[in-house]
Amino acid sequence: MRSHYCTQLDENDIGKEVELCGWANGYRDHGGVIFIDLRDKSGLIQLVCDPADSPKAHSKANSVRDEYVLIAKGKVRLRGQGLENQNLKTGKIEIVVEDLIIENRSEALPFVINDTNVKEEIRLKYRYLDLRKKSSYEIFRLRSKATIAARNALDANGFLEVETPILTKSTPEGARDYLVPSRVHGGEFYALPQSPQLFKQLLMVGGFDRYFQIAKCFRDEDLRADRQPEFTQIDLEMSFATQEDVIKVSEDMLKAVFSACGYTINTPFNRITYKEAMEKYGSDKPDLRYELAMVDVIDIFARCKNEIFSNIAKNSHLNRIKALKVPNGDNIFSKRQMKSFEDYVKKFGAGGLGYFQMKEDGLKGPLAKFFDPKDLEEIVKVTDLQVGDAVFFGAGEKKLVLDYMGRFRIYLAELMDIIPEDRFEFVWVVDFPMFEVEDAKVKALHHPFTMPKDLDKEYVEEIESIAYDIVLNGVELGGGSVRIHKPEIQKEVFKLLGISDEEANEKFGFLVEALKYGAPPHAGLAFGLDRLIMLLTKRNSIRDVIAFPKTQSAQCLLTEAPSPVGREQLKELSIRVKESMKTQER
Ligand code: AMO
Repeated sequence: MRSHYCTQLDENDIGKEVELCGWANGYRDHGGVIFIDLRDKSGLIQLVCDPADSPKAHSKANSVRDEYVLIAKGKVRLRGQGLENQNLKTGKIEIVVEDLIIENRSEALPFVINDTNVKEEIRLKYRYLDLRKKSSYEIFRLRSKATIAARNALDANGFLEVETPILTKSTPEGARDYLVPSRVHGGEFYALPQSPQLFKQLLMVGGFDRYFQIAKCFRDEDLRADRQPEFTQIDLEMSFATQEDVIKVSEDMLKAVFSACGYTINTPFNRITYKEAMEKYGSDKPDLRYELAMVDVIDIFARCKNEIFSNIAKNSHLNRIKALKVPNGDNIFSKRQMKSFEDYVKKFGAGGLGYFQMKEDGLKGPLAKFFDPKDLEEIVKVTDLQVGDAVFFGAGEKKLVLDYMGRFRIYLAELMDIIPEDRFEFVWVVDFPMFEVEDAKVKALHHPFTMPKDLDKEYVEEIESIAYDIVLNGVELGGGSVRIHKPEIQKEVFKLLGISDEEANEKFGFLVEALKYGAPPHAGLAFGLDRLIMLLTKRNSIRDVIAFPKTQSAQCLLTEAPSPVGREQLKELSIRVKESMKTQER
């Protein structure tokens, strides 16, 4: 219907007859002449409806209100002297309207399109209006470019795009499944895939060699700013490939994606082992845009005269005493602030938070009296303190200390405003443990199909796997591993996980079976596409980069899903809903 998009026009088009389509983004009546800002996906242009030029168009323009859908025919002309709008790409020109069609009216909107203070609930209920914002469009334009770039990069590397089922069996990513009841097989359920993990492995057994998919995944888990129940992965798998091959292909793909979005990134990315990440940054997804690294001081504290610390220090296998240096911290923070930090870490289970201040005449602070001068000097040395610095200590059970000190590190960085917003700091976290033990139960840290390095260790926690995560600015962007391709190793891993032959057979029998028929060695990875776009667009919430997202309580405010269904439909599915669960019947 249009000859141009609004912002395709400029001074070079003066005198041209054009036809434009879009929405009224505001109108003004100046002494009988009506000015309308016409908006389309590209931006704005000014329409002028003067009764002297076209009485008919002018009379229609009289009834135009915000968000009316318009088709305007007219001529491009230069704006009068002093009437230019510097803030507008088309600010030097305007369209003298000869014919105006009001294609559709709009009721008064529940909010002003570009208002940045609208509550998220309202924006999500009317998401289609929220999407009219220029900034929304820009996000999805970038998302589209990034996705296409990823596709092209993988295609160029010999990957085949294959779709895998949505109605399937439970997959082992560790979250709860979304279940779909079967009508034909009453009382039986499909699960929506938490990832295409098992199918992509089967594609390798099928000889496809290199697979990828822009895959929808579903996980019923606690939601956060970077988690949605329904999200998208760029999922890939390669045969006869090592960790290095997957890393190389992934870096090349990310380079292409960032380049398509206007950024140059340098590869290869840095690497850090899981162990080092945990010990230095208290996180398996460290934000390396700033340093603030922890050092171990358990040996020094073992000699101090404070029983709490010396007792903790007795068991350096299970416990940690960690020091976190804050450059200039003594100058920046008041005593009260230093104390308030203790309240912060206590929220995450800390018993307390000790600190020292580095003064001209040495280390000071409430703990100093427990240490010999030479041990104080030792602390200064290992934490590399300068006058004006502060250093904080966390002591206790290893997992707890690393967790709250890791959180404290981020808290401090945000408080001190030392995080460079315009940097992309990638890091591969490698050598993940194969298992973790929670409440005396052995669980796979990634998933049970991950290749262990050496199963012969004293403690299961010591078994490492060939698994890797890619982290960007403190966000886990993706994760993958080399897979088990030999049935006997798979069996052994199931055994360590306490998965019986029967259970393995029932849940993943098809995969175990497939491994018996000449499965090639294979490895892969999946990126969280939504997280990638969130970081590329510098948004704090994944919801901003998903066209129709769910709320933190997994609801779609627009369609009001989930919602009750009629009795008939339930009956067909052999389902009876508990009386107490019924909210309303349709
Ligand atoms: P993993 O479970 O680590 O690995 O998922 C891969 C990436 O998917 C993203 N992601 C999410 N994004 C938004 N909302 C969620 N709820 C969510 N959960 C995960 C993250 C994450 O890094 N099959 C394996 C991959 C493999 O081994 O190849 C898997 O799914 O960015």
